[in-house]
Amino acid sequence: MAEKKLGEYFSEEKGKMYYPSSSFVDNARIKDDSLYREAEKDRLAFWSKMADNLQWTKKWSRILDDDNPPYYKWFIEGKLNVSENCLDLHINNGLGDKNALIFEGENGDSTSLTYNELLKEVCKFSNALTELGVVKGDAVTIWMPMIPEAVITMLACTRIGAMHSVVFGGFSPEALKDRIMDSKSKVVVTADGAYRRGKVIPMRSAAEEALDDCPSVEKVVIVERTGTAYEPRKGRDLLWSELIKDTAETCEPVVMDSEDPLFILYSSGTTGKPKGILHTTGGYLVGVKSSFYYVFDHHEDDIYWCTADIGWITGHSYIVYGPLSNGSSTFIYEGTPDYPARDRFWELIEKYRVTVFYTAPTAIRSFMRWGEQYVDKRDLSSLRLLGSVGEPINPEAWIWYYEQIGKEKCPIVDTWWQTETGMIILTPLPGVTPLKPGSVTRPFPGVEVDVVDDNGQSTDPGQKGFLVIKSPWPAMLRTLYEDPERFEQTYWQQYPGLYFTGDGAWKDHDGCFWIMGRVDDVLNISGHRIGTMEVESALVEHPSATEAAVIGKAHEIKGHSITAFVTLKEGIEGSDELVQELKNHVTKKIGAIARPEEIFFTYELPKTRSGKIMRRLLRDIAEQRDLGDVTTLMDPQVIASIKEGYSEKE
Ligand code: WT7
Repeated sequence: MAEKKLGEYFSEEKGKMYYPSSSFVDNARIKDDSLYREAEKDRLAFWSKMADNLQWTKKWSRILDDDNPPYYKWFIEGKLNVSENCLDLHINNGLGDKNALIFEGENGDSTSLTYNELLKEVCKFSNALTELGVVKGDAVTIWMPMIPEAVITMLACTRIGAMHSVVFGGFSPEALKDRIMDSKSKVVVTADGAYRRGKVIPMRSAAEEALDDCPSVEKVVIVERTGTAYEPRKGRDLLWSELIKDTAETCEPVVMDSEDPLFILYSSGTTGKPKGILHTTGGYLVGVKSSFYYVFDHHEDDIYWCTADIGWITGHSYIVYGPLSNGSSTFIYEGTPDYPARDRFWELIEKYRVTVFYTAPTAIRSFMRWGEQYVDKRDLSSLRLLGSVGEPINPEAWIWYYEQIGKEKCPIVDTWWQTETGMIILTPLPGVTPLKPGSVTRPFPGVEVDVVDDNGQSTDPGQKGFLVIKSPWPAMLRTLYEDPERFEQTYWQQYPGLYFTGDGAWKDHDGCFWIMGRVDDVLNISGHRIGTMEVESALVEHPSATEAAVIGKAHEIKGHSITAFVTLKEGIEGSDELVQELKNHVTKKIGAIARPEEIFFTYELPKTRSGKIMRRLLRDIAEQRDLGDVTTLMDPQVIASIKEGYSEKE
């Protein structure tokens, strides 16, 4: 395999295969399939070996406790601290002066923190949180822009054993409120504002009502980022800078049990209420440390950049915990790729000599549309490895990424995983696995994945089915926060003994996996999960609406965009103004990512006899009929006539 040249044509049912170049393979951590073979021989021994790379205060007595499925436990009785593994460990190994976190702000301001410096900041803020009364097991909500303090807060929580719940900064204050209430956070850490495309977006003042409405919140810590004004609440609101002024620069890490909660991260499901996905300490860190090391082929001199926001699982696992537990240098950028110009990302790669770059297909499709001229004027020669995550990547975008960004010398790791899986599950190993544009290739060593039919039987190559994980893996979610019933029902009841991912997929003759997308009522908008029910509930809360149905419509850049069909109350007329009002209403309830692209008013929604909305019909209406340019008001005949062509089975 290794002698084949990257990009060499290989006859294959699914087209071209791409092999890593010999120069990449020569320097790769893993050059052959030994890791796969080792894990296949003894899965638990493999994970135990991965766990040996962590620093444990007390070693585990048992690798996996599978006595009470689906409540699996990993590294039983093991004791450790995550921040100690991400900071102190490397300092003790002589990496204290190495950059841990490199930051560039939207305005071009930049900071870097060495491992020594990051530890000091983390300790100071850990002590501040302790002074505010946060103790082991408490929840702290983080609603912040992409600035170093966000990472510092996450690590400080882990140092004192508090669970963090990071809420994406782009979510609305109302969405923030729901998540603070659900986690019962005592402390919320936020900023006065955020920079976005040259404008200042207020955060603390925007969150005022949400914070006032949450009875659990005792203290709000505010980072001064933009100087945006707000009304401080006496006795509750505190400035970050004031808080850390006099706190000690050292803080003993709290010894945590392997199964102690590490964080909650809310993610959309098929109901209106987001799920609080709970990850624990030992297994999660073993999973993300080992997967980061092998998937991103960790090298000590790497400058690693993952463009996700820390508000998503990608930011947790592969901006913070994966890179830092490996002693890597992780780069974070505050802004968007098109401000001040469309070459911003390439400018940053050139400036910081980024070596490994991990982004999402939706971003790649935007770059493609903007054109090569933005790429060509920058020096991207430092890059050696590229990654993709969040949604299926179309082969056209894959090839563009490979040729224009990677200059045909960087392997692309297309990584499939979920908030629930905590770690990468399906992925190439870049020095080993031949790549097929559009395929996520193989399970990570030690993980067992399959595609099954309706009866839970493994499908034949080429046959479509449901993606499942066949055995527990260390970074798996342990439950849904305070909702074990929903945990069991969502993931474990479809097929006994198998974890149900909610994705459709198929395998090819080489055992490579191809992901088709969600099979439940969850949409993937620009790589982010949005539940149709969440948007529908937001819409029907508007006084004009009685009923709403939301579907994902294929979209060139976002993968899918949101189209809503809304029925109005008697006597209310649909209008362009009302369309805008409803769109704004959804933005206010959830955030701009859930804002419908199109809204159609309709007199009825097509339903089956049992009352289930016929989404497939609505999708067809939205995609095949050219309605957008005519009017927002739907003729009832349109639905009725199309409906005739559909069975009641939908
Ligand atoms: C869903 C999980 C953890 C990644 C960020 C999103 C889709 C994710 C891929 C990929 C095809 C992908 C799936 C999955 N997805 N990565 N490489 N190829 N689809 O995390 O919000 O938990 O969403 O994203 O549909 O179920 P998430």
